[in-house]
Amino acid sequence: MAFPEQRPRRLRRTEGWRRLVRETTLSVDDFVYPLFIVPGTGVENPVQSMPGVSQFSVDRVAAEAASVHALGIPAIILFGVPEEKDATGSAGYDPDGIIPRAIRAIKGEVPDLLIWGDVCLCEYTDHGHCGVLTEAGEVDNDATLPLLVRASLAYAQAGADAVAPSDMMDGRVAAIREGLDGSDLQHIPIVSYAAKYASAYYGPFRDAAYSAPAFGDRRAYQMDPPNAEEALNEVALDLEEGADIVMVKPAGPYLDIIRRVKDTFGVPTAAYQVSGEYSLIKAAAGNGWIDERRVALEALTGIKRAGADIILNYFAKDAALWLREEAERV
Ligand code: PBG
Ligand code: ZN
Repeated sequence: MAFPEQRPRRLRRTEGWRRLVRETTLSVDDFVYPLFIVPGTGVENPVQSMPGVSQFSVDRVAAEAASVHALGIPAIILFGVPEEKDATGSAGYDPDGIIPRAIRAIKGEVPDLLIWGDVCLCEYTDHGHCGVLTEAGEVDNDATLPLLVRASLAYAQAGADAVAPSDMMDGRVAAIREGLDGSDLQHIPIVSYAAKYASAYYGPFRDAAYSAPAFGDRRAYQMDPPNAEEALNEVALDLEEGADIVMVKPAGPYLDIIRRVKDTFGVPTAAYQVSGEYSLIKAAAGNGWIDERRVALEALTGIKRAGADIILNYFAKDAALWLREEAERV
């Protein structure tokens, strides 16, 4: 049967029909909102390259977390900027470092909001790489692993609900799992940035977290953008090592990877709509060239449709309100 019997437009004629046959529903339940914690007190500092996003000091972050919680967003992910950086990123695994202190402050105010601690060294090393360096200036995989374990333990012991290693070292998920289990933290899930690409879309984030590498780039540890089979291998390895949730990052340029990961493994799959994806929309909208709300919701819906169960994104607070308004309109 074909036209004129078949007329797909019949089921698009009205909003009621469109609602009834809609295949993908974006929800505030899907969102994880990133927060940047900086030293000092009373700081709420807008990030230039990410309009609408601010850095918060520890004393201010609990109030921000409470407003995220009040919007119905289930989880936040924390990134920290330390007072001092050094060669091994020691502020990143200090049990009294900026992230453990922020976790305790937030848990005191909004205990039900899930807190994910992003585990990486690039915000804490003076060279800005995601691990410690060999004498030749390469990132030393195996020497980095114990430091990632220490950071994970510091965050989980401070009350984090999950740890999310974003460093792309081989073997980190197994090392972190073993560390958590050995410290009576068997119940803490690992969210692995399993397929994290060496992307130019991270530019604005590196302004927000002061984490740009001082030399070179991250291509020797993050994935090469043209590769897809390799992403499936990365995910398989992380699942074997004990990852509970796997992540694809960035999201928009890697929708095919999200779909393949979801179809291949069928495990909880997260996608990170990264800073550059956010700022592109913000900049175009700021110039009046696109409708921010519609483009943002379309981009997030596309990520969901591709197979993501969880979407880390900087639009989450606005999108929570937009989705609430849309639900009330019908
Ligand atoms: C740190 C990290 C980065 C992001 C999340 N964790 C930056 C990087 O790898 O350079 C990027 C997030 C974003 O751009 O929004 N490893
Ligand atoms: Zn890093």
